[in-house]
Amino acid sequence: MLYSEKVMDHFEHPRNVGEIMDADAVGQVGNPRCGDIMKMYLKIEDGVIVDAKFKTFGCGSAIATSSMATELIRGKRVEEALSLTNAAVAEALDGLPAYKMHCSVLAEEAIKAALGDWYRRQGLPVPPECVIQKEDQTPGHTYE
Ligand code: FES
Repeated sequence: MLYSEKVMDHFEHPRNVGEIMDADAVGQVGNPRCGDIMKMYLKIEDGVIVDAKFKTFGCGSAIATSSMATELIRGKRVEEALSLTNAAVAEALDGLPAYKMHCSVLAEEAIKAALGDWYRRQGLPVPPECVIQKEDQTPGHTYE
């Protein structure tokens, strides 16, 4: 089978879909290869991610990786979440087909964009690994 059972499970029953109205950090990124978009909301207390929700306008692999990524960062410290890689998310899903690995980059970048937003809101220097949110290429959508 092309996709692992875990990928199919997270695609069909994604965890943590939605918005956090009083989020402490929000990040939105787009995949230039396909135009898909992911928005990540984080609730952070004392440097710990206590809640994470996402909305993904994208393919099944992007939805499954966003779902798994939110599960992996909940309860983690900001610094730990910053080191989460797309490869680790894909591994937690028992792998993705090689040509879908680029989809998992969206989840890593959405988290890094949201964490960059958190550092900014705290008045702290933004770590270099945080993704800078930029103008979306998709007509009708703009990054915050
Ligand atoms: Fe766009 Fe997967 S095809 S993120």
